[in-house]
Amino acid sequence: MPGDKSISHRALMFGALASGTTRIKGLLEAEDVINTAKAVSALGAPAAKIGETWVVQGRGVGGLSAPEGPIDFGNSGTGTRLMMGVIAGQDITVEMIGDASLSKRPMRRVLGPLKQMGLAVEPEGRETLPLTVRGSADLMPIVYRLPVPSAQVKSAVLIAGLAAAGETTVIEAEATRDHTERMLRYFGAEVRTAHKDGLTHITVTGEAEMQGRDVVVPGDPSSAAFLAAAAVLVPGSDVTIEGVLVNETRIGFYTTLKEMGADVALLNAREEGGEPIADIRVRASRLTGVHVPASRAPAMIDEYPVLACVAAFADGDTRMDGLAELKVKESDRLAATAAGLAANGVRASVDGDTLIVHGTGNAQGNGRVAGGGRVATHLDHRIAMAFLTLGLASEKPVTVDDTNMIATSFPEFRGLMETLGARYTV
Ligand code: S3P
Repeated sequence: MPGDKSISHRALMFGALASGTTRIKGLLEAEDVINTAKAVSALGAPAAKIGETWVVQGRGVGGLSAPEGPIDFGNSGTGTRLMMGVIAGQDITVEMIGDASLSKRPMRRVLGPLKQMGLAVEPEGRETLPLTVRGSADLMPIVYRLPVPSAQVKSAVLIAGLAAAGETTVIEAEATRDHTERMLRYFGAEVRTAHKDGLTHITVTGEAEMQGRDVVVPGDPSSAAFLAAAAVLVPGSDVTIEGVLVNETRIGFYTTLKEMGADVALLNAREEGGEPIADIRVRASRLTGVHVPASRAPAMIDEYPVLACVAAFADGDTRMDGLAELKVKESDRLAATAAGLAANGVRASVDGDTLIVHGTGNAQGNGRVAGGGRVATHLDHRIAMAFLTLGLASEKPVTVDDTNMIATSFPEFRGLMETLGARYTV
């Protein structure tokens, strides 16, 4: 499985903020991550591939330098938001730009706390890209309670906190992916996690000194979800996906598949670079609709489109609650998913933050999905991959209007799917 996107971004950025050299094996070489590699290079911490390894020459917290021109983050919300945290602690000014999808995404959630710490934004009051941010050598530590369950916001504040004078604390009510906390510790920063009154307090000690490290990036469970979904849906399938990250904060999709009755097994569990990994074996299965609670959303936030496609074949309805954050991803994924299902003959309804997919199956087995529709992807890689997966099991082929964006997260998608027997025409 190609490397995890979240961990790949962080390995490059923390390598840049460490002193000395960081060597990364298994970095995801997708457009989003390559843009982050270019960004850290433009800030004076060169990141380059030497043989099979990506090598970053770190500059230390506060040691980055001003870039020569604007930095283009392409389609990547994670790259942009986490880099805002990186830039906040440097005495530099950076113009940040991105593509049409990224330029619509909300940045206030990150700029709010970072401004409290001392980041300046131009034009004043602007909350979407393109914008210019000015970091500070005198960042203030803060205590910040996350208003939305977002690992990107949590991470941006903690990363900025590395440079602040004192302790910065982020408080979260719902557990979001914790790769930042794990990897910062691995690089030698002091990060404490405490649980109080049902809330998690994560505290980073400022003026941190981090050392360059060797990082091995585990396989991406969000990309693996398409392979797993294909295996569940296509009769006769038996697929093992090797070396997948199985961090608790990321595997809600696999938990849900099991609840639907899918034959999913995590094998050969082991640990690599401070993260749990396993091989995931998935076999074609009869599926039943389930209720996915809102509390699971952070652990499978990127997997709802493909889960909805799986649910289309199940016996009964699948109700997914708490999907507000889906509306502010690379596209409005709630609307795009519902529209894509409708275009392919699947009944689905959106009620506030809830998506209900009316499965086509019955007590005898999985249902027949008509397919034959054309799906509008809205510059969203996961919408494209989810519906191409639906098309593997629908009666007529499914068409998506654009596949270019798949390269932002999973350039190997088509090749891997073809190895498993998928056929695509362009
Ligand atoms: C990510 C966090 C998630 C997720 C995104 C990657 C990260 O966004 O959707 O693809 O690497 O921190 P949130 O900020 O909504 O948690």
